[in-house]
Amino acid sequence: MHDAQNKHSSEKPTRREMSRRQFLSYTLGGTTAFMAAGVTIPMIRFAVDPILQPSGEGSFVKVVEESKITNEPKSFKFQVHQVDGWYESDTELEAWIMKDDKGAIYALSPVCKHLGCTVNWNADARYQNQFFCPCHEAHYTKEGKNLAVAPAPLDEYLIKIENGFVYLGKVQPNQHVTK
Ligand code: FES
Repeated sequence: MHDAQNKHSSEKPTRREMSRRQFLSYTLGGTTAFMAAGVTIPMIRFAVDPILQPSGEGSFVKVVEESKITNEPKSFKFQVHQVDGWYESDTELEAWIMKDDKGAIYALSPVCKHLGCTVNWNADARYQNQFFCPCHEAHYTKEGKNLAVAPAPLDEYLIKIENGFVYLGKVQPNQHVTK
């Protein structure tokens, strides 16, 4: 009986100490896991997202009748429906669409490769038959080749022609520029 009492009284502080230690380790462990998840999850999502994006046929948007496309570049605006997690939005995009020397239709992005302003066709008298960016005077050939200021050619949309209509897909590096 005496021994049992001694044992009982000697266990109490140990139990209290253990529970305090457990509390601290749970709290610190939980906080560390929460903070690590906050950093890691966006990184994983960023890495995996492109893989999860729909590709190919599903991502094309009908833009204009094929018969409206000439050798002279024309600007066309179109809507793209985007889903990002719970957030859905319609974004308006622009493309310069034209035919090349062989009659093939292609579409360039209007986003200047210098710092992202918007280029226009034949917008400056000094640069006839070229795309011109008003921000820092970058200019490009009809194929999108960078002639000054910008470090790279204008990007190009993936394109397909179906039932007399031009469909545009993702933006990709320029395929029309001859080096
Ligand atoms: S953003 Fe176009 S020239 Fe600088």
